[in-house]
Amino acid sequence: AQTDRELLFKIHEIANDFFQHQLFETEEGTSIAYSYFKERELRDDIIKKFQLGYSPEQRNAFTEYALNKGYSKGILEKSGLSIFPENAPNGLDRFRERVLFPIHSFSGRVLGFGARILKNNIKTAKYLNSPETEIYHKSSVLYGLSQGKQAISKANLCLLVEGYMDVIALHQSGIENVVASSGTALTVDQIKLIKRLTENVTILFDGDPAGIKASFRSIDLLLAEEMNIRILLFPDGDDPDSFSRKHPQEYVEEFIKTQANDFIDFKAEILLKEAGDDPIRKAEAIRDIVKSVAFVKNALKQEVYLKEVATKFGLSEQSLFNELNVQKQIQS
Ligand code: GTP
Ligand code: MN
Ligand code: MN
Ligand code: MN
Ligand code: MN
Repeated sequence: AQTDRELLFKIHEIANDFFQHQLFETEEGTSIAYSYFKERELRDDIIKKFQLGYSPEQRNAFTEYALNKGYSKGILEKSGLSIFPENAPNGLDRFRERVLFPIHSFSGRVLGFGARILKNNIKTAKYLNSPETEIYHKSSVLYGLSQGKQAISKANLCLLVEGYMDVIALHQSGIENVVASSGTALTVDQIKLIKRLTENVTILFDGDPAGIKASFRSIDLLLAEEMNIRILLFPDGDDPDSFSRKHPQEYVEEFIKTQANDFIDFKAEILLKEAGDDPIRKAEAIRDIVKSVAFVKNALKQEVYLKEVATKFGLSEQSLFNELNVQKQIQS
């Protein structure tokens, strides 16, 4: 007999085909969802490459389809794609009237979906994701890894973005060495996946407060995993998706290469701006940067970073080393 895991992989394969069929081959899908992707300027080859789909308005379209194929209510419930409340014995689809982004494993099997509403509407969550299942563990999956792994190895660099559309838009503009943690805070498991391919990461997050916060958190985690990092926040409300649609590939590549900062310059710029002329807040900013340096495991690298901080702020290395040791004690 097939194990639940095997059945769940199979159900996701079938669901993925079903949702793609809805997008391309139905009146509802083409008029609502395909046209949505066209408004976002996605080419057909990219829509197909990422196997984008659509879950129709009918409340149990996929569930009914899968039940007719012989899948049990029990396994459909376990897949996270269907629910069977008492007042709806024929089941309900988790995703309705949303465009779908299948999330693939490293080797390319569908594990779950991200799903976006078509019209921005503050009453509903913009994105809905598959729940944790026996095959989908969101903390150990990176969106785009399956499609980008070769380019990441080849470039010896992984671009890290926030969202599904950022990954897809960069591919469309010819930049394929990119992954997204997609809504969850970056995890150690996700970093280990990247590390199989490269030790170099450039963080490309939105320039809003959420993006800054996420980048600060990600910096410390990445340093602790001995990754080399650079950071770039997009200006003026842009994200990699909107930015890459405004500029040609060469410009985007050059922009990333020249505008990304090392983490010391990046944190210094943001924290010093916040601190203004206040010497106490300035000292706090420097302490915050040393705190990140304390996450670096390699002693030689740590010293190089600390020298950079010393030069940048005109401080003695000795006082920074003292602070570093305080921070290391706090962390351990
Ligand atoms: P678009 O509006 O489609 O361009 O999305 P975006 O990716 O630019 O959205 P945003 O920058 O707001 O969020 C980045 C990522 O966070 C998204 O791609 C999602 O993975 C995730 N996210 C955003 N909104 C939600 C939400 O309401 N719920 C959940 N679970 N995740 C979200
Ligand atoms: Mn598992
Ligand atoms: Mn954002
Ligand atoms: Mn965004
Ligand atoms: Mn966006």
